[in-house]
Amino acid sequence: MIKHSSLARIHSVISLSKKIFTLNLECPQIASIAQPGQFVQLKLPDDQSSIWPRPFSIHKAADEIVTISIKKFGKITRLLETLKSGSMINVTGPLGNSFSMPPPDREIYFAAGGVGLPPLQFLAEKLLRQGYPVDKLHFYSGARSAEELFGDHELQALGLDYVSATDDGTTGIKGYITEPLSVELTRRRTGNEDFIPIIYGCGPEPMLKKLAAVCYKIPCFLSLEALMPCGWGVCNGCAVKIKKNDNLVTEDERGFRLARVCKEGPVFDASEVIWE
Ligand SMILES: Cc1cc2nc3c(=O)[nH]c(=O)nc-3n(C[C@H](O)[C@H](O)[C@H](O)COP(=O)(O)OP(=O)(O)OC[C@H]3O[C@@H](n4cnc5c(N)ncnc54)[C@H](O)[C@@H]3O)c2cc1C
Ligand code: FES
Repeated sequence: MIKHSSLARIHSVISLSKKIFTLNLECPQIASIAQPGQFVQLKLPDDQSSIWPRPFSIHKAADEIVTISIKKFGKITRLLETLKSGSMINVTGPLGNSFSMPPPDREIYFAAGGVGLPPLQFLAEKLLRQGYPVDKLHFYSGARSAEELFGDHELQALGLDYVSATDDGTTGIKGYITEPLSVELTRRRTGNEDFIPIIYGCGPEPMLKKLAAVCYKIPCFLSLEALMPCGWGVCNGCAVKIKKNDNLVTEDERGFRLARVCKEGPVFDASEVIWE
């Protein structure tokens, strides 16, 4: 895997809402090879208070710019929003694996929770650029409230089927996004056992756990989140349990193996993940 680490110039910082903003970074090398599902690690050059860089999914990669979209969460994400165009930041990437591309003509359902949206929008736009039929793409996007839901105008402009939900009902359907998705999948599958879509999901762990249950026996690929102390495979701090695969000789006898979200992931087959 090729990865680049360098000081990148901040092209622009755009506020999307009180809680979400977008950072456009001048990273031509990363932008030229990034794939949907991969992420970058960011580190502020002058910040001594935090040892570890922070991981963010790649939202877009085009014209030498890597775009990421961030929710203000703790110290570093709040600091990132205050950066000015022209200032510099350490960027390492692209890191991790990526979503595998679906075979042509399958119905594709994306299930995004909050800032899980960026890698899924990246994938949807790539599929459309490659000629995937727009009427086969269904984007389900959920967030806590209207101020955390973003990407809606861009996604609707792509012409795909778009459904949104918020926990508090401030926009879209009230409730978790997995609910309308579950209803839709059941409706499509009733009396039509040949209907086997592919699901791609990214969001907080409780949402992904629900999604994996909704997608029982349906191919489903999830981009997992984990605390990432190092981000490049050396500390094991991001390890998750993956079901045992008898072909692997290195696994232990406990019925699972450990996989690093930063290295073997962040994308995993939902049927392999053991939820804690
Ligand atoms: C592969 C990957 C992709 C990601 N992509 C995005 C993205 O596109 N946009 C975005 O806004 N965020 C994304 N995140 C989450 C983002 O990395 C964290 O929100 C960020 O590191 C928080 O940094 P902070 O200094 O602001 O908060 P901190 O002060 O470090 O954290 C505040 C609190 O949150 C906890 N915490 C921090 N990071 C995580 C985490 N990853 N999971 C669970 N709890 C955590 C800390 O333990 C602490 O209690 C991603 C995470 C991963 C692993
Ligand atoms: S974060 Fe250190 S191994 Fe993944």
